[in-house]
Amino acid sequence: MSFVVAIDGPAGSGKGTITKLVGDKLNLINIDTGAMFRCVTLDMLNKNIGISEEQKIVDLLDKIDIDLREENNKQKVYLNGEDVTLEIRTQKVNNFISPVCQLKIVREKLLNLQRKLAEGKNVIMEGRDIGTTVFPNADVKIYLDATPEERATRRVKQNKENNIECSYEEILNSIKSRDYQDSNRKIAPLKKADDAVYVDSTNMSIEEVTNTIIDIIRKKQ
Ligand code: DC
Repeated sequence: MSFVVAIDGPAGSGKGTITKLVGDKLNLINIDTGAMFRCVTLDMLNKNIGISEEQKIVDLLDKIDIDLREENNKQKVYLNGEDVTLEIRTQKVNNFISPVCQLKIVREKLLNLQRKLAEGKNVIMEGRDIGTTVFPNADVKIYLDATPEERATRRVKQNKENNIECSYEEILNSIKSRDYQDSNRKIAPLKKADDAVYVDSTNMSIEEVTNTIIDIIRKKQ
């Protein structure tokens, strides 16, 4: 038996922070599916593989090893054995990720991996299409939102904490462009599932959002 909480929403809506806090509190394994798409993108960039080089992408996906771990209470991401936790969040990856996320072969590969990771476990999985495509029968579905301006402010702060240089304008434009591409792609677009609970976090503190979501989950447990 497994219990699945799906958290979807746009870039910078706070999914990562909230998922970790809620997961820790309710003992749910935290799965960041955006990190998986980021790993594929970084691997393609490192290997100089273009978006239309299908056979090379198939080979890369055959060999790719993505490992999401928790170390010292922090989420760590390993790509082919290497710690890429910070590198996958750089602007270089952000700029190339949208077309990668539109590729059917990439989405299929990661969909299977995501379902496998949750098999027989109690998980909280965050992404764009978890409640609509990956787990349409999830026990709890949340759609977490905030205005683009608020999301850009949060990302700039997060990047500063990680010593990643960026400007507010650059981040806002990147967020808006990813919103558009995520929501308008053909396969598994970003969309609130009909039965998801909508949470607008624009004017809420992290604690308020966390408690709101914990309440929603507890009612279903
Ligand atoms: O949540 P994030 O910003 O780390 O996600 C990075 C990119 O991955 C984002 O532009 C959309 C894509 N993504 C996706 O298409 N499907 C998911 N389930 C998760 C992320």
